[in-house]
Amino acid sequence: MFALQANDGDARAGVLHLGHGPVRTPVFMPVGTQATVKSVTSDQLADLDLDIILANTFHLGLRPGGETLSALGGVHTFANWPRNVLTDSGGFQMVSLLQLATISEEGVHFQSPVDGAQVLLTPELSIRLQNQIGADIIMALDDVVPTTASDPERFKEATARTIRWLDRCIAAHTRPREQLLFGIVQGGLDTELRCHCLNELATRDLPGYAIGGLAGGEEKDKFWRVVRQCTQLLPREKPRYCMGVGYPEDLLVCVALGVDMFDCVYPARTARFGSALVDGPAPGILKVRSAGMFADSRPIEPQCPCECCRHYSRAYLHVLMNRDPAVVGHVLTVHNISYLTRLMRSAREAIFTGSFANYLQRWFARRY
Ligand code: GUN
Ligand code: ZN
Repeated sequence: MFALQANDGDARAGVLHLGHGPVRTPVFMPVGTQATVKSVTSDQLADLDLDIILANTFHLGLRPGGETLSALGGVHTFANWPRNVLTDSGGFQMVSLLQLATISEEGVHFQSPVDGAQVLLTPELSIRLQNQIGADIIMALDDVVPTTASDPERFKEATARTIRWLDRCIAAHTRPREQLLFGIVQGGLDTELRCHCLNELATRDLPGYAIGGLAGGEEKDKFWRVVRQCTQLLPREKPRYCMGVGYPEDLLVCVALGVDMFDCVYPARTARFGSALVDGPAPGILKVRSAGMFADSRPIEPQCPCECCRHYSRAYLHVLMNRDPAVVGHVLTVHNISYLTRLMRSAREAIFTGSFANYLQRWFARRY
């Protein structure tokens, strides 16, 4: 299912063969919470040449719900998206979105924002919903503690629970031939906890593994250390997915450390604030609000093939940001997703030609 094609140092290029076509890795997966990337149509997504997008069990499971989605033919038909989909399991979204969520051994308890009902998301329910939604990759339900939390006992409990929940997820999964179930490494910033979790996960022989519980505001060197520990101990022949990571610098460093897959809301969220991702000197962001855009007839990036760069000048986006900010958010989302997709494709090319170290050096020299 996962074919490694080239190595350059610890960096890897490969292809993940899924039910809705090949996924070329390393890959950035844009987040389409409702099975559509916010403000982007499926035609525009197809135009961006994406192999896979991410959707959320939490949102789709509440509305339209698993039964309805299943009756409608699953998420691909529902969203008119012919390529691959990965669904996150739901626990992380609840804990990050709802202050009212509480966690017990049974699962995550929360009040539905749709109708106010009490809901208990167990590992079994998360998998049942993900089986009904029908994504190509599904994620185990994990107990996520932000890395900035301080109670070491809580990390210990969450890591052990994540492993127990993984076994419940594996037992509940009814479509293993069509849907790959990935396990998630937790353990905060603690080397021993991570090591324990990695060993436990490796004995489960899953089709892929995710590195969770990061990108929550911890210091960069601690983040890198955990990613490196995970990539060194995870099975070489399985894909590795670093969850919630989307800054260009972080993507490149994690690729160098041996990560294959990423997701983040960052490119879409920052677009809605009028920020365009670009190569070149730090911060690598063009703000269309800034006065310097006023009479600039160039597109955001002249070499970018995206719809935004084909059709709009910086000057026009600058004016639109005042008059019609929704349109700016929309076209910059397209550009930013194109940017991260092309970043991963160029990294992939460099890995194939054995020039990834050189590629990294040039990229970071231009930025800093
Ligand atoms: N998204 C970002 N981080 C995480 C994580 O640790 N677990 C899950 N399930 N989703 C995430
Ligand atoms: Zn563009």
